[in-house]
Amino acid sequence: MTKLTGQSLKELMKHAQKAALKSYSPYSKFRVGAALQLTSGEIVTGTNVENVSYGVTICAERSALVRAVSEFGPKIRIAAVAIANRNGLPSPPCGACRQMLAEFISPDAPVAFPAIGGVRTMKFSEVLPAGFELKLK
Ligand code: THU
Repeated sequence: MTKLTGQSLKELMKHAQKAALKSYSPYSKFRVGAALQLTSGEIVTGTNVENVSYGVTICAERSALVRAVSEFGPKIRIAAVAIANRNGLPSPPCGACRQMLAEFISPDAPVAFPAIGGVRTMKFSEVLPAGFELKLK
């Protein structure tokens, strides 16, 4: 798998910041962007899209993920994730997004997100240590 340098993670973060500018978030006013680096080298971004029926809102991370599969197909693999927001607040990925990402990402892929004191980068296996898996016999 592509090994990502700190520099390319910073670049990925710039894509996430840019994606956050497109956020549709009239209810929370929390503008989030996500950028996925695929192992093929492609970068796919997404933003949060809210709804007056609050529960059907989609997060930036899942928005990017469904876009990546829609554009590049079911075999995509994610090499790295960057998350940004335009509110200057910590925003690690929510539980639902972690579970969705798990399907397409390897355990050692870096996930960079805004944290207290700056950007924090964790391996995906640390972000979701005990995700649900279905091992049918
Ligand atoms: N949000 C994301 O886009 N990603 C996350 O991981 C957490 C939350 C969005 C959903 C909603 O539009 C807003 O942030 C406030 O919860």
